[in-house]
Amino acid sequence: MIGEHHHRVNRRDEQFVQKNFGSNWIVERIELISLLKHSPPVAYVTDTLPIMDELTNVPTRPLNPFEARSLEQLRTQEDITIDDRGHYIRMVGSLRASSDCLKCHDVPRGTLLGAFSYRLRAASPAPPNPKLKSPL
Ligand code: HEC
Repeated sequence: MIGEHHHRVNRRDEQFVQKNFGSNWIVERIELISLLKHSPPVAYVTDTLPIMDELTNVPTRPLNPFEARSLEQLRTQEDITIDDRGHYIRMVGSLRASSDCLKCHDVPRGTLLGAFSYRLRAASPAPPNPKLKSPL
């Protein structure tokens, strides 16, 4: 049962990232955003994704403005939001109730139950820029 709550880090995430941003980008961090247990929503601060049946003692942080804006969009229109800052990329992806979830979560199918907040970074540093060579 608990296994259903693990986020499989996740071939699909990696494939999405590489398809959209290229193979140099890797997922540096994924955090779970809590909507059900926290109002206003917060993010769980964990090194690895938390096991959702054991959330009571997990520390939280407030959402950053990008995450807060993203949630509004996930509720109404998008499944994923992207903030590309050049040297890093942030994404927030929806976590909706599929039929598997309904035996425990008493909500209509498709309800936004949570979200994942991703931070991506380049896998290798950019090659040195010859124009920046020191004049000495
Ligand atoms: C076996 C029962 C069960 C199933 C199946 C289940 N959940 Fe849960 N889920 C729970 C329990 C229990 C909690 C913890 C609730 C609490 O602590 O108040 C939880 C918590 C969560 C949370 C965190 C809520 C928060 O605000 O912190 C999310 C997100 C979530 N579930 C999503 C899902 C999704 C998506 C599915 C289907 C893929 C799913 N769950 C299937 C029992 C289940």
